[in-house]
Parts: sequence; structure tokens; C-alpha cells
Amino acid sequence: MHDGHNRQISYLRVSVTDRCNFRCVYCMPEQGVKLLRHTEILSYEELLRIIRVVSEHGVSKIRLTGGEPLVRRGIVGFIRNIANLNAVTDISLTTNGSLLAGMAAKLKEAGLNRVNISLDTIEPDKFRKITYGGNLAETINGIKVALAVGLTPIKLNVVLTNIITEHDLAYFVDLVHREPISIRFIEYMPIGESQACPGPGIEEIKDKINSFGKGILKPTLNIHGNGPAKYFYLPQAKGSFGFITPISEHFCGVCNRIRLTADGKFKPCLLSNQELDVKTALRQGASDIEIAELFYQTIADKPQGHTLANAGGQAKFFRQMSQIGG
Ligand code: GTP
Ligand code: 5AD
Ligand code: SF4
Repeated sequence: MHDGHNRQISYLRVSVTDRCNFRCVYCMPEQGVKLLRHTEILSYEELLRIIRVVSEHGVSKIRLTGGEPLVRRGIVGFIRNIANLNAVTDISLTTNGSLLAGMAAKLKEAGLNRVNISLDTIEPDKFRKITYGGNLAETINGIKVALAVGLTPIKLNVVLTNIITEHDLAYFVDLVHREPISIRFIEYMPIGESQACPGPGIEEIKDKINSFGKGILKPTLNIHGNGPAKYFYLPQAKGSFGFITPISEHFCGVCNRIRLTADGKFKPCLLSNQELDVKTALRQGASDIEIAELFYQTIADKPQGHTLANAGGQAKFFRQMSQIGG
């Protein structure tokens, strides 16, 4: 299925909850956000029906997001039901990793293919501060267990804020030499009321990585996934580095995705307030064809590109990042 700008839409990001056990500074305001009631969020039956319908219309990749998707009860069974549709070739999940160690084996067995894990610093105090209480050791353990059970390829998401240090970068350079992990640096997107202080730019990070005496980053055309990251490798490394640049070099021209929020809205673009209400349609008895029509309408509504950079940070967003899932 192509949109009006000839982009093929094959990927749905499904936010299964707006709840999270962290409160990362770049994702939520410090006071938190008003949470949805249970009846407001789509049930697993409703989510599964939407996934089945869109999979009949060209979607082959599903990413589960949140909030934190692993805090929603029943997530393992839900993943098993998605896998049992036999319609999706890639089921992935983006997580803060805090609950992963205890769940990774069950997630893998249920049919989850891979995970992306947020890890913004490897200094425990800063980690606690940026996540508002998170325990670094749990997330590191989550990464280890995910690797061990084969939820691979594993990608780490590092949002570039002012807390990142040379110590973190040295750790990441060492890590890509030890493990087949991809570490992605992400430009902070100032949406909602989050309060992060933007950190170094991508070029600064690349220069720093190049200065550790482990060789110079080389671009690779080997695409590790379906997303917006551009990947680079060091000569002896098992893993790689990725750079996600929604601000300095946006990737809207090759966007392949739409989103479904936990409260049942299709979103044509992360950085737009446009939404289509699929939940109300569903609860008023919509047929599969009517759900598919909403999906097509969402694709038709996809903007050519976002305007975050040229709005000078003044664009007003109705949702926090935690209410969309990134
Ligand atoms: P892969 O399939 O593994 O490549 O996944 P991904 O990188 O698309 O997903 P992930 O959830 O790990 O997101 C990584 C970062 O990319 C997060 O900061 C997301 O907010 C951001 N991101 C994902 N999709 C989009 C998008 O369509 N537009 C923008 N601006 N950012 C996005
Ligand atoms: N800017 C960039 N990335 C963000 N994420 C959350 N909030 C932001 C933001 N404001 C990323 C997190 C998480 C993913 C879902 O989105 O790193 O891994
Ligand atoms: Fe939670 Fe992820 Fe947002 Fe952090 S980035 S508050 S872990 S949803």
C-alpha cells in the first residue's frame, strides 16, 4: 500500500499502554501525565482485530510500544496471538528493559522476534535521574538475557541529552566490540511538555567515537531493520552504531509506518496532531472493510514531512511521547 508521496506503508507501531514505570525526562513531564482508564484503552481482542485487518492490507511488521509495553498484563499471550495470525513477518518491541530479564524467555517463546532497549547512560546515578527512579542494573541484565534467549538483533536507543559523557561513549565502543548489538544515538525531539536538555550533535558523537583508537566509523548499507537509523561500523566490532536524525536530517521521504495509540487512534505521523478514531468505529460495530477504510484514510493523510525543525520548537503537540510510543 503506497501513500500519496509514493511511500510504501508496511509497518504499524502499536502502543499497548500509556503507562510506564519510568518517567524519562525527554518523554514525559516531571509531574507525569493523566493516565487512561482501562475502558479507554483498546482491549487485546480489539488490537488483534486491527492488526489482522491491516495485515490483510500490506502491513507485515508490528512494533509494540508504550509507555512501557511490558507493564501491561497479558502481553505475552497477546504476542502469541499476533504470531498465530501467521501474517506478520517481524514482531518487535521497544522497552526500557527494566522488566525484560524475567520476561525475555517467555516473550521469545511466544513469537517476539526482537527488542529495542532504551539506555541513555551507563552511570547508575544519572540513569536513575534521567528515568526518574530506574535501576540501571535491571536494564543491563535485561539486555544480557535478551541476547541470551535470541531476541535479536538487539538495538539500544540512546537519546542525546546533556547527561551523556565520554565515559558512556567509551562503554558503548567497548560493547560493540564484545556483543552483536547496535547502538543508536537519537536526536531529542522536543514534543509535549518534556524537559530534556539537548546534548551533543551527531557529528560530535561520531568524532568522539573515532577518537578512541578503534578505527574510523564507516557507513554500512546493511540495513538492520525497518527504521530511520543510518548505520556505521568499526573495523573489528561485532555490533554497529546507528544515528537517528529527525531534526538535522529528517527521514520523512522514506517513512514506512503509521501508529496506533493505546486509546485507539490511528496516527499518520509521529510529529503531527492528526488522528483517526478507530476505537469508536470498532465499538460501534464497524466491519473489517470499514476498519480497512480508516487505515487507508490514515495513509492518505500522511504528511509529506514534519515541520518540527522549522517551527523553531514552537509547534504545539497534544500528546506526550509516552502517549504515542516514539
Ligand atoms: P527498527 O525497526 O528496529 O529500526 O525500529 P525503530 O528504530 O523504528 O524503532 P524504535 O522504537 O526503537 O525507535 C527509535 C527512535 O526512532 C525513537 O526515538 C523513535 O521516536 C524514533 N522514531 C521511530 N519512528 C519514527 C518516525 O516515524 N519519525 C520520527 N521522527 N522518529 C521516529
Ligand atoms: N526524542 C527522541 N526519542 C525519544 N524517545 C522517547 N522520547 C523521545 C524524544 N523526545 C525514544 C526512547 C525510546 C523510544 C520509544 O523513543 O529512546 O526508546
Ligand atoms: Fe517510559 Fe520509554 Fe518514555 Fe522512558 S522513554 S518514560 S521508559 S515510555
